[in-house]
Amino acid sequence: MLRSKIAGIGYYVPERVVRNDELTKIMDTTDEWIQERTGILERRYGRKHEETTSTMAAAATRIACARAGITPEDIDFIVFATLSPDYYFPGCGVLVQRELGITHKEVGALDIRNQCSGFLYALSVADQFVRTGTYKNVLVIGSEMHSMGLDFTTRGRNVTVIFGDGAGAAVLQPCEDPNRGVLATKLHANGTYAEKLAFINPGCHGGYHAKQLGEPVDYGYPPPETYGEIFLTPRMMQEGLYYPNMEGQFVFKLAVQKFPEVIREALHSAGLQTSDIDLFIPHQANLRISQFVQRQLGLRDDQVWNNIQRFGNTTAASVPIALCEAWEAGKVKEGDLVCLAAFGSGFTWAAALIRW
Ligand code: ACO
Repeated sequence: MLRSKIAGIGYYVPERVVRNDELTKIMDTTDEWIQERTGILERRYGRKHEETTSTMAAAATRIACARAGITPEDIDFIVFATLSPDYYFPGCGVLVQRELGITHKEVGALDIRNQCSGFLYALSVADQFVRTGTYKNVLVIGSEMHSMGLDFTTRGRNVTVIFGDGAGAAVLQPCEDPNRGVLATKLHANGTYAEKLAFINPGCHGGYHAKQLGEPVDYGYPPPETYGEIFLTPRMMQEGLYYPNMEGQFVFKLAVQKFPEVIREALHSAGLQTSDIDLFIPHQANLRISQFVQRQLGLRDDQVWNNIQRFGNTTAASVPIALCEAWEAGKVKEGDLVCLAAFGSGFTWAAALIRW
């Protein structure tokens, strides 16, 4: 059986830098709070009405393709991970295909909805297609335009200060060497606590899950006998009930448990140990989470790539952006064992091991 390898990788972040101080002017927060709790100093925000999740993805893709020695025309299949799509539907896969000017090829495009672990789920799907010989150049994207959908009042500060915009893309190709490329991917999910980190409106649920959880939450719905007006109601609009919500400490506690667990599982399945890892690229959720996991794995500072300080949490884009930056900095050399891992909303979590 073939293996798949990352033949080219690229990333794009918008030009506009938004430092913590800028946020302190519009909501009740401080630079100290943000740095101390998350490690973030600044993040990037896209240009309203000009940049979107799919346009940023196209920019990252062009770089990834050039580095893989192909053109977008050569792409066989697209796997696109995001939680901040341009449209509710269709997904960003078809939009990036159009943005890249390759619609005439009519290659398949699949959208992945796994939030922070989206890129790793996408990588795993692409890996299966390449290893079975189905496709030769699979484009894997993680891209997010968070800044267009956050609550910039004090009410939303616990979520808003964390997130930033950006995109990362990789081209997966077949690799004949059985000791190189993607050695393992491990994917997990547990929906018990889906609402602890969620963007629930607009949606068809009508409060159903709140009842099931025994948490009667008023999400701004009209009376049950009324037809329609469930996805997005006038009350939701008036009262701003259409933003993401997160119970940060709850997420934190599970993240620091599941990161090491899934990494060890991936290592075990590949017959490897934590001491074999050359470079660890954690999803950039919070610098404190990355540091905790680093200590659990017994890794040195120079074996971990963190960039949340400069980009914030870019969700599905964070792993490919960090991997690409590390590669550009010469931190990923041929033969190195690279470990990627992520945890986020769902909850979903995943790890991948790549022998570069
Ligand atoms: N500025 C100032 N104060 C704030 C801010 C802010 N931006 N946000 C919250 N606070 C306040 C709270 O109101 C609270 O005040 P109180 O004590 O008076 O009630 C206090 O700070 C502490 O709030 P906590 O939420 O307990 O703060 P915590 O130390 O847990 O840090 C954080 C919050 C940074 C969100 C942290 O919990 C975290 O990173 N959690 C994990 C996030 C994560 O991994 N998400 C997964 C990926 S995202 C995805 O999947 C989409």
